[in-house]
Amino acid sequence: MERNYKQDINITDELTARINELLSHYPADKKKSAMLPVLHAVQDAHDNWLSVELMNKVAEILEVKPIEVYEVVTFYTMFNQKPVAKYMFEFCRTSCCGLRGGEDLMEYTCAKLGVKQGETTADGMFSVVGVECLGACGYGPMLQLGDNYHEKLTKEKIDILIEECKQGKVTLY
Ligand code: FES
Repeated sequence: MERNYKQDINITDELTARINELLSHYPADKKKSAMLPVLHAVQDAHDNWLSVELMNKVAEILEVKPIEVYEVVTFYTMFNQKPVAKYMFEFCRTSCCGLRGGEDLMEYTCAKLGVKQGETTADGMFSVVGVECLGACGYGPMLQLGDNYHEKLTKEKIDILIEECKQGKVTLY
């Protein structure tokens, strides 16, 4: 796997305890079954992204081959393989949100922040990405920011959200 950005790997006692708690829900010889929650926990503890070295560490913890972790991380958009912005606006680009103007709002946000989809602002504060259905189809157009959903979006709501992020008023997790 070629992507290789520098990242400090820090499996703290707290993170180890969290991983062990997650693993306790599965048979001892089926650690692989805990891969998704373990990856989330590890990513949350590492600035919201997973380097190759960190994925290798997860493979070691789960007693699987590294390729098995790479397969999962590269499949799901909620896992990031490179450093991401503090505020990552993940716009749903699937049908229901799309029909209600999701794509236009994503373009509006990109223009407002001066980035293209997938790019990060020069100050590292914001990025905008398109993702598949986030399961809030009746509340579109919507985006995910950290662990929170922002629904029934309008340009005005986007303006307010960006401003609140700049002022540090937005809770991510
Ligand atoms: S289509 Fe957007 S949340 Fe499902």
